[in-house]
Amino acid sequence: DLKGFAFDLDGVIADTARFHGQAWHQLADKVGTPWTKELADSLKGVSRMDSLELILKAGGHENDYSQEEKVALATEKNDNYVKLVETLTPADILPGMKDFLDELKANHYHIVLASASKNAPKVIKYLQIADYFEGIVDPAKLTHGKPDPEIYTEAAKTMNLPANQVAGLEDAQAGVESINRAGELSIGFGANLQDADVKFNSTGDVSLAAIKQQMSEN
Ligand code: BG6
Ligand code: MG
Repeated sequence: DLKGFAFDLDGVIADTARFHGQAWHQLADKVGTPWTKELADSLKGVSRMDSLELILKAGGHENDYSQEEKVALATEKNDNYVKLVETLTPADILPGMKDFLDELKANHYHIVLASASKNAPKVIKYLQIADYFEGIVDPAKLTHGKPDPEIYTEAAKTMNLPANQVAGLEDAQAGVESINRAGELSIGFGANLQDADVKFNSTGDVSLAAIKQQMSEN
């Protein structure tokens, strides 16, 4: 039986995947990498430095910058991203997510955050939902980013639960793969997440009943 939920943040709880995209697009223009939907999608869930590498590689620029210059580029992207984050309010929580958090809390489920973003504590503060989470996995302490299972394995440990009692919620392929490899139940939002155990077109469709319904059909 499920006892805990590990939430991705960007693209699941708030539409901040759009902000990351905007800031990376600016960076891609600067280094001369064409911005495509495929490139944008491939960055979702991926850590800051790994995202930068993917953008440089996509334009054939992976050898054009020193490590120091790469850190400066990533810092510039982050500064632009943080400016966008500072505009967030509780109205930016995606449809259904506040209700779902309330439902989980009322039913005494464990709730943790499993975001690859070092800005996650700031984002949930602006959204005013920090109190729902009993823990936040610190991506700075991880050796491997999504799609490696490490972050969702850590999430289960934070809740003191075995993997088979944990579900993860994701909007990106890298995240769904991470959950699946951790041996947890994957819940995917949006198109192109064929590998998710439970799928919803929109965050507004999620509820405990809707999850159990799909699990009984599988
Ligand atoms: C993930 C986002 O949640 O966090 C990625 O989906 C982002 O787009 C990653 O690159 C790292 O975020 P940050 O805020 O630490 O640069
Ligand atoms: Mg995401």
